[in-house]
Amino acid sequence: MEGLPHLNVASFVTTWMETEAEQLAYESISKNLVNVAEYAHTESIHRQVIAMTANLFHAEVPVDDPAAIIGTTTVGSSEAVMLALLVHKWNWKHRAGVQRSAKDRPYLIFGTHTHACFAKFGRYFDVEVKWVHLLPGIYGVTAEQVREILERRIADDPDVMRTCGYTLEEAGDRRVGELVIAVGCVVGTTYTGDIDEVAGINQMLVEGGWEIPIHVDAASGGFILPFTSSTIEWDFRLPKVESINVSNHKYGLVYPGLGTLVFRNPAVLPEELVVDIDYLSGETRNFSLNFSRASSSVILQYFNFLRLGKSGYRQVILGCLERARDLTAAIHASPVLAGYVEVISKTEYLPIVAVKLKDEWLAQPPFTLDDLAKRLEETGWFAPVYHLPPDNERVQVMRIVVRAHFTSTLAGALVRDLETAVRQLLSQSYA
Ligand SMILES: Cc1ncc(COP(=O)(O)O)c(C=O)c1O
Repeated sequence: MEGLPHLNVASFVTTWMETEAEQLAYESISKNLVNVAEYAHTESIHRQVIAMTANLFHAEVPVDDPAAIIGTTTVGSSEAVMLALLVHKWNWKHRAGVQRSAKDRPYLIFGTHTHACFAKFGRYFDVEVKWVHLLPGIYGVTAEQVREILERRIADDPDVMRTCGYTLEEAGDRRVGELVIAVGCVVGTTYTGDIDEVAGINQMLVEGGWEIPIHVDAASGGFILPFTSSTIEWDFRLPKVESINVSNHKYGLVYPGLGTLVFRNPAVLPEELVVDIDYLSGETRNFSLNFSRASSSVILQYFNFLRLGKSGYRQVILGCLERARDLTAAIHASPVLAGYVEVISKTEYLPIVAVKLKDEWLAQPPFTLDDLAKRLEETGWFAPVYHLPPDNERVQVMRIVVRAHFTSTLAGALVRDLETAVRQLLSQSYA
């Protein structure tokens, strides 16, 4: 079976672009992005895409040094997150004036709701994790939760004592925060589209005198919040935010294969992680995990930046948010759906509609969300069903991602198909 892209409400990733964009992608697919001397014009476009993204997030882009590296594009947010965290691991290890014990291990703090790429980073790059478990009914990490971990005495944390092998004397009065390379925050979580308390965490780090950076995973939120009137503070305007990633192939509106990582300023990136290459005709300075890559995704992003501009993006994003709110209202107003399901996502931030069974049905559900998803699949819709992460794992949700081409007509059809599916399941259940 092969799904239809326009009925795929499971994915954040772009499934439609204009014919002219597809033509440009076709023309640039044979150009290897790393051949910067050979394709100097493409490289100039690449640099502009990074600088435009950095500007969007209020980075300190140096105007007097065009060669300064302010970030890089990647194949997606996973690569971008891992590169960013590698930078923070390096900076932690080499932080000036800090005397480290040979037993110290690097730690990273992030919520149980982060995308798998954070846990992957810990495993692949030998970094320990301090998980922040979500509070019941709260789907983002709070500053208080992070503070508690940072200020905890190592001697009072059996897990850190065991992992690092400290004696009580060695642990002394040291705090867990001394081992932390970065706090990972999410702006637009994969599960519910919620947002971690980035501004509060920033303030807590400043007030506590912690030399710990924040990495913001704005995979989906990075191309949404800059275009809405949201007053949420989450980007480089907060002094502790040193790096941000975004998935261009989500709300950047380009086909799969592009993410971007940007730094607050070039000083965040250690020189040692930039590799000089001279075997591609001309000198190249490379900072990436991958190497060869088609130029087409970068060209597609440039096309969209020029084609839409800020006002065009604003129009598309506000449209997505409006349809997500309309969908939420239609679900709550439906005489069939409203008695059984409720929307728990906050569509004021991200156009994600996460639906759960109402609490009164949890003990004896007339149907499960898995049943509902299966029924929907028969009408062509794909919507994932999963449990929320610890400590909200009791809650199972179905997620509907509202993307640019999910029209009001499609939203209406989805509500009708949901209603039909519920009716069928109820008739089976009570037969
Ligand atoms: C919050 C978040 N971070 C990271 C990722 C990974 O992004 P990519 O698929 O671009 O590697 C995703 C993917 O959905 C995501 O939602």
